[in-house]
Parts: sequence; structure tokens; C-alpha cells
Amino acid sequence: MRAMSNTLAGSHVMRCVGCGTVQGKVDCLFRCSECGELLEVIYPDWGAASPESAQRLKKLWQERRTSTAAEDVSGVWRYRELLPRVEPRNIVTMSEGNTPVIQLKKSARALRLSHLLVKHQGMNPTGSFKDTGISAAISMARAEGFSWVGCASTGNTSASVAAYAAHAEMKSLVFLPAGQVSSGKLAQALEYGATVVQLLTDFDGCLKLLHEVVQRFPAYLLNSVNPYRLEGQKTVAFELMEQLNWSVPDHVIVPGGNLGNSSALGKGFLELLELGFISTVPKISIIQAAGANPLVRTIRENQGRELVRMNPETRATAIRIGNPASWRKAVAVLKNTGGSCEDVTEDEIAQAKAELGAEGIGCEPASATTLAGLKKLVRCGFVKTSDTVVLVLTGHMLKDVDYMLNAQGSRFLGPLEADAGTVVRTLERIYADN
Ligand code: F0G
Repeated sequence: MRAMSNTLAGSHVMRCVGCGTVQGKVDCLFRCSECGELLEVIYPDWGAASPESAQRLKKLWQERRTSTAAEDVSGVWRYRELLPRVEPRNIVTMSEGNTPVIQLKKSARALRLSHLLVKHQGMNPTGSFKDTGISAAISMARAEGFSWVGCASTGNTSASVAAYAAHAEMKSLVFLPAGQVSSGKLAQALEYGATVVQLLTDFDGCLKLLHEVVQRFPAYLLNSVNPYRLEGQKTVAFELMEQLNWSVPDHVIVPGGNLGNSSALGKGFLELLELGFISTVPKISIIQAAGANPLVRTIRENQGRELVRMNPETRATAIRIGNPASWRKAVAVLKNTGGSCEDVTEDEIAQAKAELGAEGIGCEPASATTLAGLKKLVRCGFVKTSDTVVLVLTGHMLKDVDYMLNAQGSRFLGPLEADAGTVVRTLERIYADN
């Protein structure tokens, strides 16, 4: 198996999340040399950090917002003190991150919540949260001298990998489950110049196959089993805390698929706590589609000890995953933050998505699980009306246009004659009551 040296990234080491072994060399699958479990990035020097350094960094990060240097403009690399070291010439960035926090008014009223916000990660360069992770990991690939990168994907990762590879003048190889990726995401990967392989299997099968292929073909693995992906994605916690003026919300709710993103979010908050930036962490809750709920089952059936795999089925195709790679990390995040794990039905997802849309906040179906899940968490009393809640919307609404067109409601009229009389009469008939 090919080995990589990571010589440029001197400030961190890789540690196994299963047996805790600190790795010497890391292989191309990013697995523990002792037990085969996933790895995580840790920073041994942080033990010496003082509360003053947290204050200093808060100020420095704020100052960088007026800088025009690419690594300061990036919502990932702005926080580089808490990331693996990469030489500036190897940083691949397209101003990822920098996503808005928006208030949800109607949904807050309906749920009687006083503070309900979304962090809209769909506003990233390729329309999903993946860009923060891909910026970090592809920069490592460049530092390692790779010219090919590869991923398996339900669509968003492939769009992001293809775009960042193109921007870095690298080549990308993406494996997709045939017929199970929204056309918008597929079109992105093609437009950005990826070599797209549709496979007669599901996402889990694509990822398994990619693991075999990267051992025989020199492509750098960019799925979230690559711990550098999570380092990029954890920065959403830093950016969110800046946007909330370092006032910690009670809850952050995120969708769960392969479970890299929830793991990254948790890692970000727990590192802020460890370093004295914040004195408490939000409860991080993970929501899955009922037809693709291996984490929910794992928690319910054996309290998170052993993954319950399944054949996934959901119209929220981004999270149609039955064998999530980062399940152990996600279980740890639930435990370490006191979060909950819920599943929501197809109808609940569609309803929540429509409600978000009706507030002018578009997102893709997988992202709408967060609002659907919040409703359940309010009903069971886990979320209190006085709590501050942040929903992480992971993807842009235009990622899955077919889903919306299939759900079009009573305000989609016609075709009518292009004649003012006909149109006005139709409007008067429909809106007779108001
Ligand atoms: N939301 C969206 C829009 C996604 O695309 C994904 C994952 C998730 C949520 C779940 O995140 O896997 O880290 O738990 N999409 C991957 C992909 C699998 O290939 O684009 P996760």
C-alpha cells in the first residue's frame, strides 16, 4: 500500500479513534495501522495553550476579515492556527465558508421558540458544506504532490471535488451510484471536468470500490474518511461562534449521512472548549431520514456500541447511506455534547422543506431534516422554548430541482391563455377568500 509522509504538516499527528495509536506513516486509506479504524487529527502542542491565546486568536481572526489575502478571505484558512499547517502556495481556496446566519421567523413562531437560526452552508462556492472540507483536504493532496484526487459521492462531494480539482489544475475521479444522484449535482461534476463513473451500486458500494481503486491508482482519497476533510469542516463551528459573538447556542442540529459532518462540527466545538474560547458546548443533534437511519438504530438498539447497517432508501438522496464510515466519531459527538439522534419520515422532510421555502430559505431535502427533527425534539421537550437553536442547512435548494417541481403546490397555475382577463379571473377565483 502506498504511504504518504505529511512532512509539511508538522504541527499535528494522526491518532486512531478506536485504539488511540498515534500513527507514524499514514496509508492512502487513512486507517489505523494497528486496528484499521478511522483516524483523527490531533495537535499535541495545544496542551500549553492559555486562555490569553484564545483572546488573541479571536482578535486576529476578526482583523483578517479586512484583509484581501486569499488565505484570510477563506472561511477555512482564516482559522489556520487551529488547522494542519500547509504552505500558502499549496492552499487551494475559492473563498469557501463565509456563509450567512439567518433568522427563521415563521418556524420559530410555530414552534414558540424565541431564537431559531439557520447557518446556511448551501451558500458555499459549489452550493454545499463540502467545500470547506475539500479546500482543506485537497490542499494536503497538493502538498503531497498528487495530481489526481478521487471520491465516492451521493452528489455534493463530487461537485466540490471536481470544482476544487479544476481550480487547482488537478484531475478528479468520482464514483456515483447510477441513477441515484440529482441531475444538478451530476451536471456540476461534469461541468467542472471530473471523470465521472456511474456504478451499479449504492453510495456505500461506491466508497468500498474507491478504497480498492486508490490502492492501485494514484488518486488521493477525498471522502470524509480522510481526517483533513473534517479539519476543514470543523471551521463552521468557529465561524458560527464569531457570528454569534461567542455566545454559545443551546442546540445545533445537523443532518446525518456518512456522519463526517456531524463529527467535524462536534470536533470544532469541543476544540473551542478545550482551548478556552467558550465555556460550554451546544448539544449537537443528528437527524437522519427514516429510510436511511443506521445511526438512530445503532443508538436505539445497542447504545452506540456496534453499527447497525441497512439498505438505505430516501428521496433525500444526499443522505441515502446505510453504512456510515464515521459512525464512531458521531456517537462520540452525541455523547460528548449531550445531543440527540432522531429520524424523520419522507413526509416530514417534504413538509419542513416547504416551510423553509415559504420563509424564503431554500435548501435541499437532506438539509430540511434539521427542521423536521427540531419539531420532534421540541415535542418531546428536549429543546425548550427559551433555547437558542441553530439548524445547519447543508445544501443549496437548486441542487435538487426535480424534488421541488414534483412537490409543486396549488399556486402553480396554467398553462392559461396569455390574456389579462383570463389571468385576473383565475386569480380572483383562487384568492376569493383573501
Ligand atoms: N447534507 C447534504 C446536502 C449532503 O450532501 C450530505 C452528504 C449530508 C448532508 C450528510 O453529511 O455524510 O457528512 O453525514 N453528502 C455526501 C456526498 C455523502 O457524497 O455528497 P455527512
